[in-house]
Amino acid sequence: MCGIVAYLGSREAYPIIVKGLQRLEYRGYDSAGVALINPKGELNVYKRKGKVSELVAFAKDKDISGHVGIGHTRWATHGEPNDVNSHPHYSQTKDLVIIHNGIIENYNAIKEGLKKRGHTFLSQTDTEVLAHLIEDIQQNENMKLGHAVLAALNQVIGAYAIVVMDKKDPSTLVAAKKGSPLVIGIGAEDFFVASDASPIVEYTKNVVYLEEEQVAIIRLGHELRIRNLKDKEITPYVQKLNIEIESIEKGGYDHFMLKEIYEQPRSVLDSMRGRLHADTGDIKMGGIVDHEKKFEKAKRIIFLACGTSWHAGLVGEYLFEEFARVPVEVEYASEFRYRNPIIYPDDIVIAISQSGETADTLAAIELAKSKGATVLGVCNVVGSSIARATHGGSYTHAGPEIGVASTKAFTAQVTVLTLMALHMAKVRGTLSESRYRALLYEMESIPSKIEVVLKLNDDLRKIAFTYKDSNNALYLGRGVSFPVALEGALKLKEISYIHAEGYPAAEMKHGPIALIDDEMPVFVIATKGANYEKVVSNIQEVKARKGKIIAVVTSGDKDVRAMSDHVIEIPETDEFLVPLIAVIPWQLLSYHIAVMRGCNVDQPRNLAKSVTVE
Ligand code: F6R
Repeated sequence: MCGIVAYLGSREAYPIIVKGLQRLEYRGYDSAGVALINPKGELNVYKRKGKVSELVAFAKDKDISGHVGIGHTRWATHGEPNDVNSHPHYSQTKDLVIIHNGIIENYNAIKEGLKKRGHTFLSQTDTEVLAHLIEDIQQNENMKLGHAVLAALNQVIGAYAIVVMDKKDPSTLVAAKKGSPLVIGIGAEDFFVASDASPIVEYTKNVVYLEEEQVAIIRLGHELRIRNLKDKEITPYVQKLNIEIESIEKGGYDHFMLKEIYEQPRSVLDSMRGRLHADTGDIKMGGIVDHEKKFEKAKRIIFLACGTSWHAGLVGEYLFEEFARVPVEVEYASEFRYRNPIIYPDDIVIAISQSGETADTLAAIELAKSKGATVLGVCNVVGSSIARATHGGSYTHAGPEIGVASTKAFTAQVTVLTLMALHMAKVRGTLSESRYRALLYEMESIPSKIEVVLKLNDDLRKIAFTYKDSNNALYLGRGVSFPVALEGALKLKEISYIHAEGYPAAEMKHGPIALIDDEMPVFVIATKGANYEKVVSNIQEVKARKGKIIAVVTSGDKDVRAMSDHVIEIPETDEFLVPLIAVIPWQLLSYHIAVMRGCNVDQPRNLAKSVTVE
């Protein structure tokens, strides 16, 4: 959601900024803009509703020179997506420009005060107000830019990642962060600023992640300086980036989503590597080791998450209850944060998030902490806000997920939750040794079983062709496969814009069955397990109403094949591990249907990769 790129150095800023904005396109946005100070000291600002490519076309014949500049992709919050509301925004004199991710909650009060002092505003945004406020302080208090930004941010309520540039001082950029990530790349003789590392990684591996309420003063020819909002100097902590450029490029695939679907044997393996030791019967998870006693005594687990991560939490519910015999609640973070939830000292709260930046999940964590809870995180992005806000936890090692629709992050989350549940079962002695060991060995075989499912891609493309023009779809599953039905429906609707719903199969007759006719595709997980016969009955109910059945079955199944329009055979596994394999066909089907419908698979309309506003 919103992307920031800024450059200060001796190279041409524009190409670096544009390339960086393109790398951030996956975050979701509806307009783009850039501001550059040219060698004559003139400030040029170009902004366009639409894609970065439209901004590039617009700026083609314009002055794009300059060794310092800031660029932004905006996902509209205050004011509709149009050229005027796009960032960068000017201050009153037009000497300052600002780009901003986040929301300034008290912008209206500040705006009214500034209006009384003669300020006039061009846009409807909260961001423009901040640019004016900084300049107002700069002029009235006779402050340097860094101090003016600091003083302005002390008046602000809300979340921000900002970069400010001053035409009068083209060798300085000022950046600040609260609640929205910002990373500064330190090159040999230049600086890069971005909302994540992807625009920076090809230029330098040395980065500083700004912490909450920190302001960075970036000056050419000087060391990076950081101050907190109390004006205390902080020593920058320079880290080495451990991502490679290949991991954020498409690598020959047509879309990031397809690449990421195909990466799952690897990302599941990476999420288990060094943790799962089937031969010795051990599960070693560094981030939860300090909380072992809590795991032993826990009376309840509460999962907090949104979207696909919430679906992973639902899978977790079945796993923790079955393996560790502990009650589980799975909460939408957005609901939890506005209730007055009851948390007991023996509860363990586990927040699940790919990006680690989801505003609702972050707020829910803070609420849980304020009630004394131990909060663990299952995050994909190392050093993200949620990873830092939690008391411990485990990273999913899925690697960067660029496609907006989450795929490999989901299976990595389920992998980590499975290991946690098994570990908890061991600590509490709730599984027999033989079942525990069998599950560990079975987990080890999951990556190769995912490989087998990926080989069905051509068959899935054909099935996709049959259903690409559907207006509705139903996804059914029972037990631990029910959350996979929800996830299948979410994947289809978010990238193909086909209305889809996921249901526990038995719930169908309590309402959704009314929708079934000979045009309705019903995607069912009917793998072997305790619920198999029940699901077969549900399939018959659909067939009796002429619905189309597309079933995921266990390899060799004949009964469901006989009553289905299409079957997708997946390798046999323990029924509680089925989600890790059964979700793959649903991901591929959604992908192909969306491509056939001409949809923008990697950047579906209205969606953002990390949802940093509530
Ligand atoms: C769906 C999807 C979203 C995210 C949700 C939470 O494909 O990606 O539903 O799962 O926005 O995001 P994270 O996991 O980053 O907290």
